[in-house]
Amino acid sequence: MKLTHKDSTSKLTDTDVLVVFTLEGEKPALPGGITLTKHALEGFKGEFREARLCDAVSGPARRVLCVGLGKKAQVDAERLRRVAAVAVTRAEAAQATTCTLHVDTAVAKLADALDLGLALTEGALLGAYTWQKGKSKPKVAKLTAVTLHGPKNLAAAVTLGRATADACMFARDLQNEPANRLTPIDMAQAAKGLAKAGRIKCTVLDEKAMKKLGMGLLLGVAAGSSEPPRLIHLVYKPKGKSKGRIALVGKGLTFDSGGISIKPSAKMDEMRFDMSGGAAVLGAFHGLRSLDVPYEVHGLVGATENMPGNRATKPGDIHVAMDGTTVEVLNTDAEGRLVLADVICYAKAKVKPDTLVDLATLTGAVVTALGHEMAGMFASNEGLERELRAAGDAAGERLWPLPLIDVHKDAMKGTFADLKNISGGDLGAGSSAGAAFLAPFVPSGMNWAHLDIAGTAWGGSARDWVGGSMGSGFGARLLLRWLGAR
Ligand code: BES
Ligand code: MN
Ligand code: ZN
Repeated sequence: MKLTHKDSTSKLTDTDVLVVFTLEGEKPALPGGITLTKHALEGFKGEFREARLCDAVSGPARRVLCVGLGKKAQVDAERLRRVAAVAVTRAEAAQATTCTLHVDTAVAKLADALDLGLALTEGALLGAYTWQKGKSKPKVAKLTAVTLHGPKNLAAAVTLGRATADACMFARDLQNEPANRLTPIDMAQAAKGLAKAGRIKCTVLDEKAMKKLGMGLLLGVAAGSSEPPRLIHLVYKPKGKSKGRIALVGKGLTFDSGGISIKPSAKMDEMRFDMSGGAAVLGAFHGLRSLDVPYEVHGLVGATENMPGNRATKPGDIHVAMDGTTVEVLNTDAEGRLVLADVICYAKAKVKPDTLVDLATLTGAVVTALGHEMAGMFASNEGLERELRAAGDAAGERLWPLPLIDVHKDAMKGTFADLKNISGGDLGAGSSAGAAFLAPFVPSGMNWAHLDIAGTAWGGSARDWVGGSMGSGFGARLLLRWLGAR
């Protein structure tokens, strides 16, 4: 689906469905020349997400779709994304091939131009997203062209929104591929594809290179699989002077069976999504191909499977991290933290970032604590926490702070080695334990945030533009927002 902006000074052209957004209690403002049958809007209240499709009697549109915005005081970016998604979903269901989202002067006043244009563009594009690659006869979308007909100053937001929505959909495409169709090598291949177009560089480390660096934790996770692991390293350099160096680290488990500590079979298929942190990082770099940010950005993804092969790590095995820390692996299903720890070691040795943000589907516990609408955030300082939270709120990819205290860190001290990969005693707080394992690998001077996205990466309640039971692409747009992408 293509989405373009058209200046409202140019007149409406032929369209299958014209969308008219309407505040609760107000009458739909039909643009000039369009008339409906007498009773077409009877009972239409303009409640949030209410939609009414009517035949047009005259004018350039064949049909008109009125979509309720709800009460004016409640209109925000999230509601705008949702109504745009409702609009295109209804237009598609009505077999439209073209659709015009009409932004009249009243709608244009609901938010500033950037927020409004961005929300409508993202909502429309992400709401229309489907994943059909698994079907022998993919359903082809009827709706191919959406026009955002509104004030001239929406143009920049539409361009930005296209890039951020594409970034999210790139992440979703990677997520939705099952493990046999997206191996660590395939993920590295996707990353290399991002580097083809100029500004981004990509290097990929294979097993041999990782062995040489001493990444024993990551290799210990990979040992049970016949699919070789990869470490992906992407670099973005800004055009002007850099305001700092940032590392984005992603957990890229293309499948997590649990290893020898094998998972129950129910929903094990969902562990295709255990690479969602990595997908978010690659998604952000998809956006960075065309957007400007004032930082040097490094994307690091540890890509591997976690399988119970006969070379697999056994409970009790001791592995050595790249920085020399020894770890006893008491539960091979707590593998994400092992992979992340070595990638963090790589970052501190090779990249030396000022700030490191990692994203990982790390714990089932965060799904229990926060559900599917908010990701857990552990931040080393309040400034970073505030920034990320604001970016998440704006993007509709929300973060909620969780605690990391010394008791959590102490519970990760090992008996036979320096650390163990699951907490001892009756600590509880599974997500904090995951963060506590990572903490000793992060140097004290580095700004660090750990985002546990296990709940938000898929399975979200239908927020119209979100992924439902498929991948949500969570993180890519949040990161671009935080980086100040323009
Ligand atoms: N990838 C899982 C976490 C997960 C579970 C994400 C369910 C989404 C849904 C992770 O590798 C894992 O298995 N974590 C364990 C840790 C435990 C063994 C300490 C968990 O959460 O059960
Ligand atoms: Mn696991
Ligand atoms: Zn996992």
